Amino acid sequence: MTMKITGTGSALPERKVTNFDLEKLVETSDEWIQKRTGIAERRISDGETVSTLAADACRKALEMAGKTADEVNLILVATCSPELLLPCCACQVQAMIGASGAVAFDLNAACSGFLFALNTAYAYLHTGLYKNALVVGSEVLSKLVDWSDRGTCILFGDGAGAVFVEASADEMVRGNGRRAGMECMVQGADGAKGMVLSCAERAVNNAFTSQKQTQSPYIYMDGQEVYKFATKQVPACIQEALDKTGLAVADVDWFVLHQANVRIIESVAKRLKADIAKFPMNIHKIGNMSSATIPVLLDEWNRGGRIKEGDRLVLSGFGAGLTYGASILVW
Ligand code: COA
Repeated sequence: MTMKITGTGSALPERKVTNFDLEKLVETSDEWIQKRTGIAERRISDGETVSTLAADACRKALEMAGKTADEVNLILVATCSPELLLPCCACQVQAMIGASGAVAFDLNAACSGFLFALNTAYAYLHTGLYKNALVVGSEVLSKLVDWSDRGTCILFGDGAGAVFVEASADEMVRGNGRRAGMECMVQGADGAKGMVLSCAERAVNNAFTSQKQTQSPYIYMDGQEVYKFATKQVPACIQEALDKTGLAVADVDWFVLHQANVRIIESVAKRLKADIAKFPMNIHKIGNMSSATIPVLLDEWNRGGRIKEGDRLVLSGFGAGLTYGASILVW
């Protein structure tokens, strides 16, 4: 049993915030941000929420797949910024789109979240437990960002992307002889280094505890440590996935990477000795949207007609946890 992506969708907040807008908030410049990150602008929520963005992206993915909400078996939402702790975002999405027959739950692996959710869906579909799933990455990071911290506020944006995946028993052979579907997945975590990128929830603080805690509710990041981790771990896990499948870099048509920093993507391409033209990027206009970056980029590339049947894709992400992963699939 294999799994194919049959629909993609995305949703972004209307409001654009440029680097010039940020110059008015913190001591920074458009030139510095573009040179160090490749980001020129990002979308910031002005009322859109993690669940409304996710639901919009899901509707578009379903429409592309030619499915209705009542046919959905499973909804997995990857997010680290839900508007509610309870109920989970996936259940909110279920209600919003009317997928009353679906099982729904959230998963948090930060910027690797979409990839981990996709792999989780694959595990369910591969074993025959469910026939299809909506897999979503959705974030409103703007509420977790300290807008006076120039080291982090320039990086992040809000948005959502979704894919509809279907189990398929037939080994559909594409024109180029490749079998459509998931070929391999590699995932990893290094919790011991987790505090280099963190964000606290509410502290335990009640009449019964002597441990009165105060903690910043905003994202803390040691940018250089995260940078070192990403540039080492991402090419290593892509190489591991290629080795597992007996494939070479030349067998891959597109490397759809988490959009955190253009320099990180360029470094990964260099380490893999891969052509940078095979690495689609949209970070300049939407910044780092954590779990949403990979599905939003996938949707843009798919709707733009860039991904053709039979193309082999590597999806790879990294993020807080620290977490990382790579999946290989044929479209
Ligand atoms: N504007 C202007 N100057 C800034 C700045 C900003 N927005 N942010 C930091 N600086 C300054 C620093 O204060 C420092 O000044 P100093 O030399 O006087 O001390 C200088 O720029 C260099 O800072 P540094 O942190 O060394 O920059 P960098 O080249 O490492 O770039 C990041 C910073 C955040 C862009 C980079 O480390 C990065 O992208 N890391 C990975 C982050 C990431 O991907 N996070 C998400 C993971 S999912």
